[in-house]
Amino acid sequence: MSRPKVYVSRPDIGQAALEMLGNKCDLIIWPNESPAPRSFLLEKVKGVDGICCMITDNIDAELLEAAGPNLKVIGTMSVGYDHVDIEAMKSAGVKLGNTPGVLTDATAELTVALLLATSRRLFEGREELLNGGWAKSAWGPGFLCGQGLAGSTVGIYGLGRIGQAVMERLVPFRPAKFLYSGRSKKDNVSAEFVDLATLLRESDFVIVTCALNAETKEMFNANAFNLMKPTAIFVNSSRGGVVQQDDLIAALKSNTILAAGLDVMTPEPLPTDHELTKLKNCVIIPHMGSATVQSRTLMATMTVRNILAGLEGTPLPSQVGLMVVAIAIASTNKEEPQRRLLSGKRENVTKSSAESLPESTYLGDTADLDR
Ligand code: DGY
Repeated sequence: MSRPKVYVSRPDIGQAALEMLGNKCDLIIWPNESPAPRSFLLEKVKGVDGICCMITDNIDAELLEAAGPNLKVIGTMSVGYDHVDIEAMKSAGVKLGNTPGVLTDATAELTVALLLATSRRLFEGREELLNGGWAKSAWGPGFLCGQGLAGSTVGIYGLGRIGQAVMERLVPFRPAKFLYSGRSKKDNVSAEFVDLATLLRESDFVIVTCALNAETKEMFNANAFNLMKPTAIFVNSSRGGVVQQDDLIAALKSNTILAAGLDVMTPEPLPTDHELTKLKNCVIIPHMGSATVQSRTLMATMTVRNILAGLEGTPLPSQVGLMVVAIAIASTNKEEPQRRLLSGKRENVTKSSAESLPESTYLGDTADLDR
């Protein structure tokens, strides 16, 4: 029997993962450690049964059509899947696997590091040391003063896995309170659920850990920044697309807010001469949230497991859409209100309606639940 064909969009996903996949499938691997040109991708996916992709690969109707009817499953080596056209996947009947959970710790650690680097001006400090600024000012009462976490109000938008992990890590810094906002109120969290405007108005630190979707796209715009305190620090480790970036730049330039720490931005990679790189009160790092060896290793193997399961016709360890069914059932049992289906309509998902959904039904993205 012929072996399934799988296209792998990077050669550097790790030996263990490549071997796991290569043991069962014939692999077509883009050889360079940078994204393949679109033309290569469209050509090489022809006739494949599976695709292993990254957030840098745009998975849309054109690509699915180029792949053709053999395609059964796509595994993205990421928890986020805003680079995938879910409607097109649904129409093509192709399953999508992602990697929630295994990057939570890494991303939460990085988010805290980014917050501290921004609030305590670490990059500016290094620059002052190197450019002679320190030598001039010596120890000055106001030199490189930042904002402290102790006694502050921390607001988290999107209190999913990563948001909660960030909160846990911030507790020892003794903020006075945590606020959170997002699609739904959570059980058993030591934070107050508020609407977004309240969160923006009251928080000293606004941390964004939600997913990017139609609802969250450019949610952090001029209106949002205008509501924030002039001393507020904005931290984003989700997706650049949740921010109206020109509005953020304007808010940073006009000191509408004090500073921003960004692991994600638009576009990525950011051109080195981009306006954001010139702002002293903006700390930018290159989408490193999940970048620990441990996390990336687990992400790669989970991606491969998703693909192998899709090829074998068994349940994916993490299938986008199915997780929402489980959440819908759990929350319906607790009589939690509505969840929005991908159609854009708000409907009640009852236990029986969730159970009756076919295996490949997409219920839409889970916003704050899936990161
Ligand atoms: C994800 O997994 O969605 C991250 O942004 C990439 O690590």
